[in-house]
Amino acid sequence: MKKVTKAVFPVAGMGSRFLPATKASPKEMMPVVDKPLIQYAVEEAVAAGMTDLVFITGRSKRAIEDHFDKAYELETELEARGKTELLKIVRETVPANVNCIYIRQPEALGLGHAVLCAAPVVGDEPFAVLLADDLLDGQGASSVMRQMADVYHYHRCSVLGVMNVPREHTRQYGIVSTERQDGDVQRVTGIVEKPKPEEAPSTQAVVGRYVLTGRIFEHLRKLTPGAGGELQLTDAIASLLREEAVLSYQFKGVRYDCGSKLGYLQATVELGLKHPEVGAEFAAYLASRAGVDGA
Ligand code: UTP
Repeated sequence: MKKVTKAVFPVAGMGSRFLPATKASPKEMMPVVDKPLIQYAVEEAVAAGMTDLVFITGRSKRAIEDHFDKAYELETELEARGKTELLKIVRETVPANVNCIYIRQPEALGLGHAVLCAAPVVGDEPFAVLLADDLLDGQGASSVMRQMADVYHYHRCSVLGVMNVPREHTRQYGIVSTERQDGDVQRVTGIVEKPKPEEAPSTQAVVGRYVLTGRIFEHLRKLTPGAGGELQLTDAIASLLREEAVLSYQFKGVRYDCGSKLGYLQATVELGLKHPEVGAEFAAYLASRAGVDGA
């Protein structure tokens, strides 16, 4: 049985909520502590056994390509200065057995369109989609994409990563309706993009992790503009589930919405506190601030 080895990273969005930071570089290059968001997502995919990484890039794509490329001058410089630890960090942005493939999305027409741009590379195989602005911390459990790939390999149908959100937040997500299957895994019966709280079929929200069968491309090709005038992946999934089973999976771990300023700050604090180099000092700093300015 074919394993999921291809991962698609749509990184061609406008990132308008982070302007001006995203004026000349993609939001996926914003660092949380000392790693760009895209590297967290790549590490998650690699931990799940993915070996072909397909980046759907847009404006100012160079930064991402350069990040995962060999940095000859920097490496030579670090080597000459005997900075072996830093050299290791620079060399290990992506393991040697992994291929990075870059495809340009000519216009930011929406996430559905971005995923469709990967069709020539993915073919009809199952594949993963990771939105790097959703930072998922498996918190001691295996990486969230590893958990989802396991669900896919067991059930052999598309899997959407979901979490429960407050009803007043449904407008920010794709929301699924499901029928019970077993525990964390449920069969999706419907999916709708950004519903009003009073119209949302549930409070189960899709976050930026998907394992999809190759059939999704047929449905993406037929898309017409949906919510926000964009070609929505959610609409293609709604169409796919009329043809084949789609599962939702309530992942183990914590999600930080790094596409929003608040989520990005929360991720920075939480991952800063866990960081081996600065965590203890940062905790002491935060403690010293308790009570200051209403903190
Ligand atoms: P978002 O909905 O977060 O949009 O996209 P955005 O444009 O990046 O950010 P804001 O809302 O303007 O601040 C979700 C993911 O889909 C990618 C984005 O890069 C992000 O990872 N995306 C979105 C594309 O690759 N292409 C698109 O046309 C739209």
